[in-house]
Amino acid sequence: METQKSLIWRTWDWLDGRYRLAELMEAMLHVEIPRTARPYYLGGITLFFFMVQTITGILLVIYYQPTPDAAYDSILYIMYEVNFGWLIRSVHVWGANLMVLFCILHLLRVYFQGAYKAPREITWSVGFFLLAVTLGFGFTGYLLPWDQRAYWATVVGSEVAGAVPVIGEQAIAFMRGGTEITARTLSRFFGAHVLVMPAALVTFLAIHITLFHQQGLADPTVDPDKPAPAKKKLLPFFPNYVLDEVIAWYIMLAVLIILASLFPAGLEEPADALHTPEHAKPEWFFLFLYQFLKLVPRIVGVLGPGVGAAILLLLPFFDRNPHVRPSKRIFAIAIGIITCIAVVALTIWGWLS
Ligand code: HEM
Repeated sequence: METQKSLIWRTWDWLDGRYRLAELMEAMLHVEIPRTARPYYLGGITLFFFMVQTITGILLVIYYQPTPDAAYDSILYIMYEVNFGWLIRSVHVWGANLMVLFCILHLLRVYFQGAYKAPREITWSVGFFLLAVTLGFGFTGYLLPWDQRAYWATVVGSEVAGAVPVIGEQAIAFMRGGTEITARTLSRFFGAHVLVMPAALVTFLAIHITLFHQQGLADPTVDPDKPAPAKKKLLPFFPNYVLDEVIAWYIMLAVLIILASLFPAGLEEPADALHTPEHAKPEWFFLFLYQFLKLVPRIVGVLGPGVGAAILLLLPFFDRNPHVRPSKRIFAIAIGIITCIAVVALTIWGWLS
């Protein structure tokens, strides 16, 4: 044991002598965060799910075959022939849904605490792209099993892009690789899912993490009208914060395994372009949009989501109110609550209809 320890330390010294790692570790870990910060570990949990997706995704890709002839059978093979294949697949499916859910919860936490305000404008805007890529992961991954649900959810999902004026036709052709969903669509979605999106997510994540690491976490109790306290109460990032975060990850791992074991990911009949199922619907996180488009006039349906996304992206630049306490930003809190209620109501409506 002693020899092993000294070997580890000798290796560390060897690396440190060449790359000044001690300085880097010091800069990374010796950060302090306000004791009053309330992140609820939601961003960290989203990161945890991304790591789970990366590991399970690599395991799945060993057996998955991205062609219409082989995709469905390769999923059956993973489920019934590969040891624990059903569990790896179920963890990947549940992990995808939970990653989207926690990314949204993290966004809501940041919004309702006003943690997007100066100096965190760019952290928020980069976060917006992280959400977009996370949704993109869900959208492209859904098609890969090539069963009826996957196929028809992609048909209706890509029709949304086709409704955009002027570029709609090109957008749908770019997405599908033609007018229909074919082998070309599957290979495009597969390429986006395993190459483009991971690269984009890792890039945005590196920026996001560097930014909040440099600025520390926002303090939701700050009041710009009152003088700042002479000495802020701070908590060490390492080990206190990191330890709490790891406990949250453990709990999430347990939740994930329980969900994946009790409710394993299913598979419908193989995709059939000639047989439209009765209720073709997109994934749950696009249902509100799908329902919204069914209810409003075409022009509103086409412009509304674009305007909504632009407002979300540039929110910190529109909202110039410096206060973060809810009592001093009633308007923003009210808009947030109304939007949440509308999105949940449209999602339930879309689900039931
Ligand atoms: C893959 C998705 C994302 C990951 C992995 C992620 C990760 C994180 C982590 C680990 C933190 C530290 C605090 C915490 O745990 O809550 C954080 C902070 C932050 N995130 Fe994210 N995030 C993601 C998406 C987003 C989105 C969608 C937004 C908003 C549009 C956003 C905006 C912010 C802001 C403004 C902060 C600083 C908050 C503060 O100082 O209290 N993030 N993010």
